[in-house]
Amino acid sequence: MANNKQPDSREPYVVAIDGPSAAGKSTVAKLVAARLGIDYIDTGAMYRAVALAALREEEVGEAAAEIGALVSGLVIDQADGRTLLNGEDVTDKIRAAACTKRASQVSQLPEVRRELVALQRAIGAHRSVVMDGRDIASNVFPDARYKFFITATPEERARRRTLEMKEKGLPCSYDEVFADIEKRDWDDANRALNPLVQAPDAVLIVTDGLGVEEVLEKVLEYIVNP
Ligand code: DC
Repeated sequence: MANNKQPDSREPYVVAIDGPSAAGKSTVAKLVAARLGIDYIDTGAMYRAVALAALREEEVGEAAAEIGALVSGLVIDQADGRTLLNGEDVTDKIRAAACTKRASQVSQLPEVRRELVALQRAIGAHRSVVMDGRDIASNVFPDARYKFFITATPEERARRRTLEMKEKGLPCSYDEVFADIEKRDWDDANRALNPLVQAPDAVLIVTDGLGVEEVLEKVLEYIVNP
């Protein structure tokens, strides 16, 4: 695989993991980061934090200029697996359905992407990180030392997500979850700016029929001598 060069432990490096929603990226990315002893950065959570801020500001509509003004005044941080918005821990709040929907809208806006991509690049400039999202290998860190595209069929992702929600006691139907996944796939892939795309030099991992540990081992297999 062209992108998987021998790591030099003295140099900070980025492990970029992209893929569609509900593909299990974040679970694997967290485990990879723990095994490598480096930080995990969830860029989807950053878009969700902007969405939460927009939902909270009643006067902020959907206009790009308004959201752009809002985002430039926000302080978004990630530490120890938590997401902070202006110092407040919003890790759980940003998972609400309203936030998921609004995150999809705000992530289309150039003003928002410009701010968040700059933040993501600043984070990865001086320390080693595992970063997951939709455009990390293709846009944020095109020179990332390791690049992965983790995906699964929409049917498999819907099946897993339905099970996960039922286990959390959240009522949902497979058909609804499947429709939501298909819509999010379409939105992610057809966004004008930085759409979801597999970088040409990313390692493709299709996780249908694989457990988390098996996916983790596949990723680590490519990362020699961490
Ligand atoms: O992965 P997630 O569901 O938490 O992502 C939330 C939203 O942010 C989703 O609509 C896709 C978008 N996103 C993006 O546009 N670019 C990224 N690098 C990460 C997420």
